[in-house]
This record gives sequence, structure tokens and C-alpha cells, in this order.
Amino acid sequence: MKHLLKLLDCSTEEIIGLLDLADQLKYERKNNITHHHLEGKSIGLIFQKSSTRTRVSFETGMYQLGGQALFLSSRDLQIGRGEPVQDTARVLSRYLDGIMIRTFEQKEVEDLAEYGSIPVINGLTDFCHPCQVLADLMTIREKYAVLEGLKMCYIGDGNNMANSLIVGGLKTGMKVSVATPDDYRPHSKVLEFAKDFADFTLCNEPMKAAENADVIITDTWASMGQEDEKEARMKVFKGYQINDELMSAAKEGAMVQHCLPAYRGQEITEKIFEEHAHEIFEEAENRLHAQKAVMVTLMKDKD
Ligand code: CP
Ligand code: NVA
Repeated sequence: MKHLLKLLDCSTEEIIGLLDLADQLKYERKNNITHHHLEGKSIGLIFQKSSTRTRVSFETGMYQLGGQALFLSSRDLQIGRGEPVQDTARVLSRYLDGIMIRTFEQKEVEDLAEYGSIPVINGLTDFCHPCQVLADLMTIREKYAVLEGLKMCYIGDGNNMANSLIVGGLKTGMKVSVATPDDYRPHSKVLEFAKDFADFTLCNEPMKAAENADVIITDTWASMGQEDEKEARMKVFKGYQINDELMSAAKEGAMVQHCLPAYRGQEITEKIFEEHAHEIFEEAENRLHAQKAVMVTLMKDKD
């Protein structure tokens, strides 16, 4: 693996390898075992959108691995004033050992990888959120010990999270069911990938999608950059909520995941959120371990 731009680029073996390493790094962290795998290395964290989890988990993760992380807000970088990403990539490649970028267009992330000469990690685009979904898969596997054969159900907007969950779920052998309003389906590239899997279903009926699911997942109805659409979206997504009724369609004891931030009373009720808070915050913690696995895999010197 040279980069983590999207899960569509990753093989099943690569994804499972990252999850295994994440489990190991989590075990080491819990047992105060320190390995400075990235001593002397620097990663730049470019943010064109807000972040709590991604920023803090990358910064502390890199510190725990013995390296340093530089927070680079696009408000301060020349990229925010129009310097081309192609030039930014070639400059940063001469200072840094890796780049994480959170931005709007997937193309910007792909260009950064193409023009630069160091590993690039996608920290969220409008198209996908691979780091988050690695943490989700890790958390699901912690509960059930396997992924293969489990049913994952995603309810809500066919956004970056939906796209990555579909790809990550199917690549690791999960059954994936998705319910979105007709005009808010996942990306056509993702549906093209998913069409070859018998265990993939897409509909506009949340109760149907949730039937017999082992894990139910949702995300905000209005993602970063869609603030202007918020009012309209509140109406369209009204029935797409994780609540008691929806959970009654899932398997007894089914898990709930949410990438956060969560909007209680919209995509999830307060009650369901709090009942599953232990799983949701474990998922948030696992961002740290999963991203450390990504950084070690991409940035550690090969022996
Ligand atoms: N889930 C997630 O990516 O959170 P942040 O936006 O806080 O980084
Ligand atoms: N879909 C959300 C995810 C936030 C982590 C967004 O893009 O804003």
C-alpha cells in the first residue's frame, strides 16, 4: 500500500491487515507498551473542513508513534489562496514523510498523491471517509470477533460514510443493506462496485433494510459543506432515523455505530444514542488505533 485514498483501492487483505495491526496497537497502548515506529518522521494534517476526532487522533497517534504532526489549516496555507494542489504536493513532499488531508473533492486527494512523492491519507472528502470506516470495522469485529457473514445496515444520506461503509463492508465479507431517499443514494461508482455482490441491497425503506441486521449505522443528514441545504434535508430525511421502532427490526442486541458528530432527534434518538454510547465512543476511540495502523503501514521504513 502506498496511500489510503479510498477503500475502493484496497484489497481485502490490506483492509484486514490494517485491522489486525490496529488491534495490536490498541493492545499495546492499553498495556503501556511503546514502540516508536515513526521516530523522526513528520506528517502534515491539512484541514479544509472542521474536525475534532480526526485532528486529535492523528496528532496524538503520531506523537505516540514517536513522530510529529503538523496541523495545517487551509485558512493559513497558500492552498487556501489558490496555490495549486500539484505544487503544494511537490513542496510538502520535500519536508514531510506523509500527508493527511480533509477536503471537499476526492480529486484533490488523488492529485496530492499523484504529484507528491510521500504517502497520502484521506481524512474525509465528499466522496468517502476511509479512516472512519476502518475504525467502524475494527469496532464491529471487536464485538462479534468476525466480520464475514454479519449484516450491516446503513440508514440515511448516501454520503461519504455510506460510500465507505458499503465498500468496506462488502470487501470484508459483510452483507450490506442501505436505505436512503431516492434522490440521496450513494455514489454511482460505489453502486457500480456493489452491484456484483449478491449480499448488497439498496432501498428507500429503513424498516426493510434494518431487518435482521447485526449492526445499524447512520450519519448526519447534512454533511459539512451542505449547510445551505439543511432545511430541505430535514424534511426529506424525516423517516430515516435510528429509533426504537427501527431497532425492533434488527437482531436482538444489535450494535449501533455513528461516526459523530451526532444530531440527536434527527438521524438518531437520544434514547438509542445513550443506550449504545459505549459502542459509539469505542468507535471514536478506535480512530486513534486504526489511524496509527495506517500511518505505520504507509510511513514506517521497510526493514
Ligand atoms: N467522525 C469524524 O471524522 O469526526 P471529526 O469530524 O470530528 O474529525
Ligand atoms: N458525513 C459527515 C461526516 C462527518 C465526520 C460530513 O461529511 O460532514
